[in-house]
Parts: sequence; C-alpha cells; structure tokens
Amino acid sequence: MEIVEVKNLRKTYSTRRKKVEALKGISFEAKTGEIFSLLGANGAGKTTTIKSVLGLVIPDEGEIFVNGINALRHRNKAARYMSAVLEGNRNIHWRLTVKENLEYFGHLRGMGGRKLKERVREIVEYIELTDKFNEIAGKLSRGMQQRLAVGIAILPDTPIVLLDEPTLGLDVESSMKMREILKDLSKSGKCVILSTHDMNLVEEVADRVLIINNGRMVAYDDKEKLMDMFRKRAYRIVLDGSVKSGVVEKLSRFGDINIKTNGETVIDVQLDSYDEIYDLFDILKETKLPLKRIEAEDVRFEKVFLKIVEGSDGK
Ligand SMILES: Nc1ncnc2c1ncn2[C@@H]1O[C@H](COP(=O)(O)OP(=O)(O)OP(=O)(O)O)[C@@H](O)[C@H]1O
Ligand SMILES: [Mg+2]
Repeated sequence: MEIVEVKNLRKTYSTRRKKVEALKGISFEAKTGEIFSLLGANGAGKTTTIKSVLGLVIPDEGEIFVNGINALRHRNKAARYMSAVLEGNRNIHWRLTVKENLEYFGHLRGMGGRKLKERVREIVEYIELTDKFNEIAGKLSRGMQQRLAVGIAILPDTPIVLLDEPTLGLDVESSMKMREILKDLSKSGKCVILSTHDMNLVEEVADRVLIINNGRMVAYDDKEKLMDMFRKRAYRIVLDGSVKSGVVEKLSRFGDINIKTNGETVIDVQLDSYDEIYDLFDILKETKLPLKRIEAEDVRFEKVFLKIVEGSDGK
C-alpha cells in the first residue's frame, strides 16, 4: 500500500549570492513494508526531499500525501505517522543520557508511565546500548550515537521511518547492525525511506530505488529491475596457447569483447544474454586449447548507478 506520495516537488534555495534549484520535479510513492532508497551524489537533493516529506523544508511546488493526508496543509497531523533520523544525529540530546534521551523523546510523542519504561528497555536492548544506558549521549562513539538516534526514531512505532544517510561514517560492524535494523523495520511492515550514496547499502537492502541527479529523477524502479537491465554477464576466459586470427575474427562478433593472445589467450567479454556463453564456447572448442581459467563477474549496483547517471544529461 502506498503510504507516502510525493508529486512533482520543486525547491529553489535563494541565498543573497545565488539561487540553487535543489529539486526540479521529484515524484515517487513509497509503500508499507518496503525499503525505498533515494540515491544520489552529494548535492543531488536527497536531504531536501526527506526534509520536505517531514515538513522541515517547504517546497515551492508539488504535493505530499502521508497516509492520505495532505502533508503540506496539515503538517502536524501528517507528522504523527512519521519519525526520522536526520544527518549528523541532530535528533539526539548530547547532554542527556541514553535513558533520558529515549524517555524525553517518548514524552514528546505522548508516551509515558510504565508503558514508556518498558518500551525504552526493549529499544535499548535492540540497539545494543544496554551497558551504556546511563552514559551521556555526547560521550558515545559515532556508531553508538547513530544507534541511539535510530532508537529514538523507532520508539514511537510510527508506520513511516525516514533515515538520511544512516550508514555515513559508520564502521563495518555498526553498518552491519544498521542494515539489520533497516531490514527488521521493513519486515515488521513499516515504510522505510532512506537516502544514501552508498551503493552497497542499496544493493543489499533496497526494494525500490529513486536515483536523483542534480535535483532531477534519472531512474525510479525496483532495484532488481534496474540491475537486470545491466545484467549482461561479464566473463574472463584464459586459454593455454595462442588462438589463430580466424578464431579472433569469429569471436569479434560478440558485442563487447577484448582478446589478447600472447602465449596464452585472455578473453574479456561482456555478453548481452547469459546463454551466449555457449555459442562462444562452440568457437573456442575448435581451437582445442586447454582452458586455464574462467571467471564470471556479476553486475554490481555501483556500475548500474554510474551507467544510469552517465546516460542522463544531469542538467
Ligand atoms: N539551506 C540551504 N540553502 C541554500 N542551498 C541549499 C540549502 N540546503 C541545500 N542547499 C543546496 O541544495 C542542493 C541539494 O542539497 P541537499 O542537501 O538536498 O543534497 P543531498 O543529496 O542531501 O547532498 P549530500 O549527499 O551532500 O547530503 C545542493 O546544491 C545544496 O548546496
Ligand atoms: Mg544530504
């Protein structure tokens, strides 16, 4: 079910010296139970998009619906369905302890009494900060602070959770924990909207992706569909010995192929479809040369992203 609908957002920031068109028509729908990823380079417009949905930035044009509510007209009503982790952990209080932070933000959401205490206990265990319960937030490591920020965001159990660059600057372990949290959230039926420029994160957790380049949408689809478009299997084949020029000629009909023959023959090929490899082997069979090695390279999301952004004008 679509729970966040964004239609044709436009935003220009005007400073004394210049105007920046941060969003040039951004539209998307995010659903319950999915991880929706806004992906783009620095300055693409990810934070502006997330802040617009949250009502922290007022777009110049466009519409936003949160659970059917017109969020630009009824900001507070829409806000009840959302919680967020903003860039740089701005949603934690540095002078308060882990416990006080969770309780304080719980109160702001209208929670209290034993219910809140129990929820705080549950959350602190989940974010693995039980042994830091009474520690001042400002003294925690960056990864711990990020986990606390996430804890605060999931405490009120809202159906929509937005996270701006949730893995930025985290070490491997903290980043793994963050991935686990993101997956748990979507499994529990929440709509998770995250912004990132981390391709590996997108590859691992995203269900659907919106790629933004300079404030413009350049791709909006299922992650798997985007990857399928580029899933032209790539292989490196090494034969023991040189192949004759006749064979090289026959091989050259395979679209993207590079052959080096010099004592041994190294063939780098990017096939259009996975079954072409058998046609290629029919030709190699004629050479009767021993096969030394064959390696398959699967497509990585990073490559997909670069190809898509390269193909858009970006203006
Ligand atoms: N308050 C502001 N005043 C003026 N310009 C701004 C403001 N906030 C953002 N911008 C500009 O708007 C554009 C989009 O910024 P935004 O922060 O949304 O991008 P982003 O994709 O989140 O980038 P990053 O990956 O660096 O976080 C950038 O060119 C940025 O410089
Ligand atoms: Mg940003």
